[in-house]
Amino acid sequence: MVLADTFAESRRVLKSDDYRPLAMADQYRRLGAYLGVDFSPAIRLLELLPVFLAGARHGAIRRQMAIGLAELRSQQEVAARRVIDQLPPLLSPGRSADLLSEFVQPLWQAMASVSEVPGDESGELSTRLPNLFDTKLRIRERLQINELLREFIGFDPASSEQRLIALGQNVLGAAPLIGTLTMSLHQVFTTNLGTPLNGITYPKHFPASALSVTDRVWQKNSGSAGAQAPETTRCVLHSPNFTAAENEEALFGMGEHTCLGRSIANLVWTMVLEKLSTLPVSIRSSTLALRTDPPQSAEDFLAIDDPFIRPRSLRVTVES
Ligand code: HEM
Repeated sequence: MVLADTFAESRRVLKSDDYRPLAMADQYRRLGAYLGVDFSPAIRLLELLPVFLAGARHGAIRRQMAIGLAELRSQQEVAARRVIDQLPPLLSPGRSADLLSEFVQPLWQAMASVSEVPGDESGELSTRLPNLFDTKLRIRERLQINELLREFIGFDPASSEQRLIALGQNVLGAAPLIGTLTMSLHQVFTTNLGTPLNGITYPKHFPASALSVTDRVWQKNSGSAGAQAPETTRCVLHSPNFTAAENEEALFGMGEHTCLGRSIANLVWTMVLEKLSTLPVSIRSSTLALRTDPPQSAEDFLAIDDPFIRPRSLRVTVES
């Protein structure tokens, strides 16, 4: 694997037709054959997630998801606003709060529940499914998720494709939104400790990201005949070595896989900042616990197993 860790090189690869995303379904086919396990439920879902698709199939599923998300947008905005309106009591003077479990997760839960995916009413599947993308995930957990998916498909086989696509929308939104919002809040708080929230100049865009890389595979049979390139290229999307403008441009991806949740995610950030800027309190301390630290060096970027940086908690204390 090689690393595209300059903005220009990452953008070149992500915008080139000579590369395609990793076909995650193939990895589960190989694993299933090796273990003698039937991963067909997981494979069916992975074949409906645009991030792992290329060409005409990608275009068709992406369009379907874009339409689905556009239909949900205004309801998601209302659901998000309802949770954001609960911020003032959470951030009242003298209070300590874990903003991940008390604010960010309920916020995403409210947005995801708008799509009411029949067969996943509890939201358990959409919460656990992103773990399938972690290359170090234990086999037991992969098998459990696969069985949950089998039940989900069996719930009403006739509508399973449509329900899998709706589930896929929530799966692709959950980890990036939860992680990026939590990490961005922490960044704003730590750079403004002791300053009243209604006196801060907030960054217009998320200053941190929970998704710092995406992988691409060289398609030997397309484009630039005879050109040589390594098989897998890891493209950096967010880096301490990028300028702020580059991080902003790459945050939601570049090229034909650019995020379909970009507009609702940006709206959520704006709504959160609008609410924070009405509060006369300040943050005295902000402590972020992450499952893995954000990558800093080329070695760190190459060592990533799980595409998402996942927060465990964001503990803040508030003062008047
Ligand atoms: C701040 C939050 C978010 C960030 C940083 C983010 C980031 C990204 C990035 C970098 C990609 C491209 C991945 C690649 O090129 O391999 C992507 C794709 C995607 N995102 Fe997001 N995302 C966020 C929120 C959301 C939300 C809330 C949703 C849905 C409600 C969503 C749905 C999607 C979908 C469907 C794709 C696949 C697009 C395609 O492959 O054609 N994202 N996201």
